[in-house]
Amino acid sequence: MPALLAVHGYTCRFGEVLANDAVDFAVRAGEVHALVGENGAGKSTLLKLIYGVNRPDDGTMELDGRPAVIASPAQARAAGIGMVFQDLRLVSALTVAENIALALPVRPDRLHKRIVEASERYGLAVDPAARVGHLSIGERQRAEILKVLMTGARIVILDEPTSVLAPQEAAALLEAMRGLRAQGLGVVIVTHKLREVREVADRVTVLRGGKVVLAGVDPAGYDDPELVRAMVGRTVPPLPAERPAVPENTSPVLRVTGVTAHGDDGRVALKDVALTVLPGEIVGVAGVAGSGQRELCEVALGVRPTTAGQIELGGRPLTGGARGALAAGAAAVTEDPLTDAVVPGMSVFQHMALGLPRMPRRGLDVDWRKVSEATENLDKAVGLGMVGGHRILASLSGGNIQRVLLTRALGRADVRLLVAAYPSRGLDVATTRRTQELLLARRAAGAGVLLVSEDLDELMALSDRIAVMYDGRLAGIVPAAEADRQELGRLMLGSAA
Ligand SMILES: Nc1ncnc2c1ncn2[C@@H]1O[C@H](COP(=O)(O)OP(=O)(O)O)[C@@H](O)[C@H]1O
Ligand SMILES: [Mg+2]
Repeated sequence: MPALLAVHGYTCRFGEVLANDAVDFAVRAGEVHALVGENGAGKSTLLKLIYGVNRPDDGTMELDGRPAVIASPAQARAAGIGMVFQDLRLVSALTVAENIALALPVRPDRLHKRIVEASERYGLAVDPAARVGHLSIGERQRAEILKVLMTGARIVILDEPTSVLAPQEAAALLEAMRGLRAQGLGVVIVTHKLREVREVADRVTVLRGGKVVLAGVDPAGYDDPELVRAMVGRTVPPLPAERPAVPENTSPVLRVTGVTAHGDDGRVALKDVALTVLPGEIVGVAGVAGSGQRELCEVALGVRPTTAGQIELGGRPLTGGARGALAAGAAAVTEDPLTDAVVPGMSVFQHMALGLPRMPRRGLDVDWRKVSEATENLDKAVGLGMVGGHRILASLSGGNIQRVLLTRALGRADVRLLVAAYPSRGLDVATTRRTQELLLARRAAGAGVLLVSEDLDELMALSDRIAVMYDGRLAGIVPAAEADRQELGRLMLGSAA
């Protein structure tokens, strides 16, 4: 049987950059095909060529074994190709049903029923009457996939769908993808997580520097280091298992005592939380999304008021809000960089200046030359390959914004408390590893680290202790060496024995 879709020799240039270099790629009926590779490898470019957003400079396409040309997304959809972009394309002010109606000419009185039927058939739970703006990212994604399926897609392409999801949501999405496969659809998923490749993919294609380095192979035939080597182009050694012990009898860099605080919605988001972080210690924070992790980070950084309890940084009560925290040696990688850390219209340099404990001055003005020097030094020391100082930070891609914020927070040698929320979210394998090394370097330099992550493997690999949050409370805190996924999972769901 011919593949549903096959491209041969697909090539795409952006000026000097050869984003796709003679790429062959095929999608069969009834398979999940994972497309993996580091940031910039050319994955999104290939998908956009297939979906008709861009045209290849060279190469041919076949649909069901017959030569085809896709010159626009409308043609792609007509040919049964559906794409779920990383930045979802739904209209927030409309309901799920209204969004689907935009893509699908169905009589309104029938639409609701059709959505419910499709939702059951494909195992994608969504409420047609819900306003999209009120949905979680996972629910929005399901709505978007449903929209794509209801418009008749036989091939569903998802570009990094899980990098924004909590683990439970990601698991549900992978389950839905298995359902699509069982219905005979062809599914393409881009992901950085090998665990997901193994869980769901029948075949995997690895791109590196625009070229195919592994072409539609069975992932079971390769171990993780082999796949990583294919993606990164070199061996990525495991994190050092041997680490200096956490110094005992030191006074904590962060002490949270009996803290209660409200969330943005006015509900109690932190309930009587007590936690310490010692110098030279990484305390991991696990929990289902929205269990109080964000608020815990914010109270520790002085940006969210508490209604009870105390916060001490470096042995002194935290006063003076965010400035006080910065002065006491705190640095942060925040959960939602676009809203929490990125100032519209400000450049990379300006953001770097904001993170300096003391703004370099020349007379009454900021000494930008000094800022630029400091930035260069940080970039060199950190080695995350930050881009362009004069560019507006908000205009960069998510991965590049994250690199700037990580460089700012992880590069400072004077940091005593580092609060890192999801530092490796959406980063590729090599950048994730570098970020983890930097967290360990801060620990080795005597900083205390509060690390929030949704990746239990990451928490177990990096933390000395893991605190689990459930419904605003600390459900438990366990030494990482003794933690297992099952037990952590139980604590995360509030069902500890
Ligand atoms: N519209 C564009 N203009 C210029 N360069 C681009 C454009 N889209 C992608 N690129 C470049 O092409 C390369 C591949 O990018 P992309 O396909 O987005 O990678 P991936 O999705 O694997 O991270 C990168 O070097 C990227 O900077
Ligand atoms: Mg991409």
